[in-house]
Amino acid sequence: MGTKRSLATKLGVVAGFENPRVALEQYPTPPDLAAHVVHLADLHDDVDGRTVVDLGTGTGMFALAAALRGPARVVGVELDRSALGVARANERRVAASAPVHWIHGDAVRHPLCVPDPVTVVMNPPFGARDGNRHADKGFLRTASDLAEVSYSVHNAGSREFVESFAADNGGEVTHAFAADFEVDAQFDHHTDDAREIDTEVYRIRWD
Ligand SMILES: C[S@@+](CC[C@H](N)C(=O)[O-])C[C@H]1O[C@@H](n2cnc3c(N)ncnc32)[C@H](O)[C@@H]1O
Repeated sequence: MGTKRSLATKLGVVAGFENPRVALEQYPTPPDLAAHVVHLADLHDDVDGRTVVDLGTGTGMFALAAALRGPARVVGVELDRSALGVARANERRVAASAPVHWIHGDAVRHPLCVPDPVTVVMNPPFGARDGNRHADKGFLRTASDLAEVSYSVHNAGSREFVESFAADNGGEVTHAFAADFEVDAQFDHHTDDAREIDTEVYRIRWD
């Protein structure tokens, strides 16, 4: 297994969204955070030989981070066709050896039938800005249907919600940590060049 740093360096070539859509919360996951989460998953034996599914794959950052390790296959699911074009171009830049399948579909409607065991890694929309609080709930539901284990990024203050959702759906939060998430200005409502948002990452084991 390589280091977290070398993984983050390889992810440095991943390009951002061409025309980011605010309604879909198209913020690219920072390479350092994707490397951190996937390295942690690898240390827990949650990547090697498994199907890794990235729900709301966007630029493909998490999918490609996993593909740079030793999964059986990687599946990236995304609602926005143009983002999938960016993810495909990023796949060529990263040149990982694991097979990657890009699926155009709604992650909340669970279009997938993939070989077990499955690990989900995802940075779902938070729904914080447009009052659609816990837009991440549908993504967690899909993770609970599909995966033995999931890693997900949520906005700060989600612990009670994530723990109770997991408990109600046959899951258990085994690890949780806070993480900085730097967002470059890309939408009209962004007044600074870049800003840090506080996020939380959860590892959930599902029955
Ligand atoms: C916060 S971004 C995460 C992006 C990704 N991790 C990256 O680094 O590019 C959320 C992503 O979820 C996608 N998305 C939003 N709703 C979706 C849905 N119902 N099904 C699939 N993808 C969705 C958005 O288009 C966006 O690409």
